[in-house]
Amino acid sequence: MDNKINEYLLLAKKAAKKAYAPFSQFHVGCMLVTESGEVFPGCNIENRSFGLTICAERSALSAAVTAGKKEFSALYLYTPDAKAPVPPCGACRQVLSEFVGPNFPVYYTHDGQTVIKKTMQELLPFDSLHDLKD
Ligand code: THU
Repeated sequence: MDNKINEYLLLAKKAAKKAYAPFSQFHVGCMLVTESGEVFPGCNIENRSFGLTICAERSALSAAVTAGKKEFSALYLYTPDAKAPVPPCGACRQVLSEFVGPNFPVYYTHDGQTVIKKTMQELLPFDSLHDLKD
């Protein structure tokens, strides 16, 4: 596997260790990379109200936008508790699509061995927000 991809996935794995997931015990970590190569980690933060849980992806995006970043080149996602690679949930796809284009790549893995790459276009083929722009 590409060294750079592996490096970012390992950072995402490290971020998963920071997850606050007492309810699901499902730890998620990600690494959002900006156009200029800066990296923003994210982890899931659960809440006892359940509905207020924040996914790792939106956690990373919030940190990045708060730091003044709005251009992104890739997202790396690591779900160490899963039996297979897990892509971003529907809500995160929608929120990410606000900032990234159709070719934005998302790499995801559960074990560092099986790594799947999908573009934003593949993950959210009928993006109503972008369709409305055209
Ligand atoms: N989760 C994420 O952080 N990202 C995803 O894309 C899928 C789901 C979290 C939410 C919840 O804390 C746990 O994983 C189980 O759904």
